Amino acid sequence: MSIYTNVDQFLSVDTPFYYYDIGLLQKTIKSAKEALGNGPYQIHYALKANSNPRILNEVLKFGLGADCVSGNEVNRAIEVGFDPKNILFAGVGKTDREINSGIKHDIFGFNVESLEELKVLEQLSKTSGKKTRFALRINPNVDAGTHEYITTGKRDNKFGITLEELSLAISLIKSLEYTEFIGIHFHIGSQIIDLSRFKELVDRCNEVQSLLLDHSFELPHINVGGGLGIDYDQPDKNSIADFNGYFSCFKRNLVQLPNQTLHFELGRSLVGQCGTLIARVLYIKPAEKTSFMILDAGMTELIRPALYRSLHFIQNLSSQEGSEVYDVVGPVCETSDAFARGLSMPKAKRGDLLAICSAGAYGEAMASQYNLRDAAPCIFSDDFK
Ligand code: LLP
Repeated sequence: MSIYTNVDQFLSVDTPFYYYDIGLLQKTIKSAKEALGNGPYQIHYALKANSNPRILNEVLKFGLGADCVSGNEVNRAIEVGFDPKNILFAGVGKTDREINSGIKHDIFGFNVESLEELKVLEQLSKTSGKKTRFALRINPNVDAGTHEYITTGKRDNKFGITLEELSLAISLIKSLEYTEFIGIHFHIGSQIIDLSRFKELVDRCNEVQSLLLDHSFELPHINVGGGLGIDYDQPDKNSIADFNGYFSCFKRNLVQLPNQTLHFELGRSLVGQCGTLIARVLYIKPAEKTSFMILDAGMTELIRPALYRSLHFIQNLSSQEGSEVYDVVGPVCETSDAFARGLSMPKAKRGDLLAICSAGAYGEAMASQYNLRDAAPCIFSDDFK
């Protein structure tokens, strides 16, 4: 991984910063595309994982579409060059302004999450005088087996319409004049490692499709969302997600109609491993059971450990000697601002450089300026060439 070849150059750079390995990003997207193969398939990159323009430029080069969840993400996608015809707009709480902007740009389609939203889309389309396209997001009531905060396809989650609401939705759809029903959409959650959960999703997709066929809806698009997990424990060993297993689950089991395109919305699995948060040790402070290793990066740069108690692999780039147990914490005034507790690592000292791995997805994208901290800059592997 080029991070290790660049360590010397890092020494003169102010920390913390995000380091992106562009070679790995390209390799990852290429692997995903190869695993998917040719056919009536389309990957839409989920901008929410990382909307850095430099990253988006790379994604764009591979011909992926964009999956957006806010008006600003739609604008960002257009700014960097995505064709509006390849942009999807999802989210449970789209404002009228955001919907109008999507209509104005004539995006590929809206993933509609409630019957009330569908009525609003119909009304706003009518007012604009333009016909819009939508897919109905359906909550399949499948447990993704991931952290509860990133589980989205269970009945009590706020996303999509329930299977019980489907017949009501069908009558509403039949009355629409300014919106065209082009597909169904699902997304059961994120960081999904157990691929059998996707098989459960596929079973539900097939049921919904056959019900819709009974009502003479032969839809040109089916979108199964994203959610494929990455290896946070061994990012070096498994830097590429299991795209083969993931895509073949859908290709093997989904009943895809003739002339129907199958869409995926991947975020984390495409960009997660190419990003690393580089920090410096500020202080080592003895504590009751362990020592605190206090870094100059914290939850403001990578909130995942504080929010989901997720563990990112941490490596001391300056020292491989000795061993000590640390609570690796950030500088922010919150006890939750910790990257790891009770972690055995080489003995560290003030000034050591640390790599907090797998920070390419939902790292920079979820950064905040809490405590009025500066936004961390980004460095790309090709900056060193
Ligand atoms: N499509 C929809 C409708 C989504 O809600 C999401 C993610 C994706 C696609 C992309 O999912 P991915 O392939 O990245 O798993 N902040 C959390 C993750 C939140 C995911 C939200 N939705 C984290 O850091 O783990």
